[in-house]
Amino acid sequence: MANKKDNTALEKIVSLCKRRGFVYPSSEIYGGLAAIYDYGHYGTLLKNNIRDSWWKDMIQMRDDVVGLDSAIFMHPTTWVASGHVGGFNDPQIDCKVCKNRFRADHLLKSYDIEADKATLEEINKHLSELRAKKKLKCPNCGSTNLTDAKVFSLMVKSNIGSPTEEFTEENVVYLRPETCGGIYLEYKNTVDSLHKKLPFGIAQVGKAFRNEIVARQFIFRTREFEQMEMQYFLHPSMMKEKYEMWKELRWNWYLANGIPADKIKWYKHEKLAHYASEAYDILYDFKIFGDFDEVEGIHARGNWDLTQHAKFSGVDLNYTDDDGKKFVPHVMETSAGLNRMLLMFLDFAYSEEAVKDETRIVMKFPKHLAPIKIAIFPLLRNKPELVKKAKELYLKLAKNYMCEFDDNGNIGKRYRRQDEIGTPYCVTVDFDSLEKGDVTVRDRDTMEQVRVKIADLENFFQDKFSR
Ligand code: GAP
Repeated sequence: MANKKDNTALEKIVSLCKRRGFVYPSSEIYGGLAAIYDYGHYGTLLKNNIRDSWWKDMIQMRDDVVGLDSAIFMHPTTWVASGHVGGFNDPQIDCKVCKNRFRADHLLKSYDIEADKATLEEINKHLSELRAKKKLKCPNCGSTNLTDAKVFSLMVKSNIGSPTEEFTEENVVYLRPETCGGIYLEYKNTVDSLHKKLPFGIAQVGKAFRNEIVARQFIFRTREFEQMEMQYFLHPSMMKEKYEMWKELRWNWYLANGIPADKIKWYKHEKLAHYASEAYDILYDFKIFGDFDEVEGIHARGNWDLTQHAKFSGVDLNYTDDDGKKFVPHVMETSAGLNRMLLMFLDFAYSEEAVKDETRIVMKFPKHLAPIKIAIFPLLRNKPELVKKAKELYLKLAKNYMCEFDDNGNIGKRYRRQDEIGTPYCVTVDFDSLEKGDVTVRDRDTMEQVRVKIADLENFFQDKFSR
């Protein structure tokens, strides 16, 4: 069952993200830029940890997947061949009264009409039917004065070359709308240089850009975002088996990263692109939206992409198997949004607990994903001998863990700050530490405190962080 929507949950997370340096609205001093965000110190660390966990499972632990970091700018024909130029659109509808803009398929969904892959004609037919029943209303102001749906391209354009040149259709380049485009274009170089045999995958993490019509869900849907994608190239006879294998592997990744099975579910796409044979999404039960929403897609894409690139480039992208048979490999794709996953972990980790007369806000990130692993405090900031010892300890632990030295405010305030950024352990150096060589270690989740000998600390944390 989906979570009941907590109307304040999104506000609380947005506020915590800004207050504690996870996510800031971009260009804020100039009034901001819609649907673009910057990641502060803790947001960047958290994002990197999620990315690294994905990279470890998808590349490091597999001998059949290799990495790639392809350019954001690609030959413009790439996106003609892939069908994005002219075909990567969303249906847009405008309110003539409040001037708000909506995705027509999302608006129809609020009337329980599924129009995810519907044509513009089908969408306008649904809208006319609602209009005739006097049901169609602007979700923002309630006006019935809405335009028909029209097509809106999601492709973000730029131009490269001489700065004196005009921005024309001839020199236009697109900011990639998905990272897999680079994977298809480097398929041949990868086979030629790394001598990979089918089935094998190419994976990459990188920025993608989409001119989203509506972007009001914080970092869920933004115009600049990061994807973690893997294209698994194979003979079509293996598709079914490998599709099931990757579905299971991706599901297990969520469990291994602390998301319980009852917080995720599968969504099977019934309407598929003409070249696709199967498409499932992994949905996560967001508290902030009160519903399950997509975080990752797993797609059986046939050999359409490579066939199109072979056709448009004139380059042979056939694979020759051990029997000398040539064929264009089929592709099984896993495609996850890194920022959306970060929002999932923020949503999952956020908790409020009553402690005495106060509410404790604590981000219960799985320990391996926490931005800061250990915070080190001197009990008092004006006692040089405590500060010196705490700094020494900080430098020692920082060799293996992302640590933070904190001497701001009293210990209670420091604990509260570290709870809000999700630090699993806080270490306090006090006067006993100088005499007896031990420190207090406080656990984020239980708030229990134990004394540990400084000489044993590295073993203590090795044990706590082992997975
Ligand atoms: N190559 C296939 C592909 O791009 P997609 O379903 O369009 O498929 C995959 O995108 C994932 O990328 C989504 O599941 C989502 O997590 C993320 N994503 C897509 N658009 C996004 C946006 N505007 N903002 C943030 N994440 C987005």
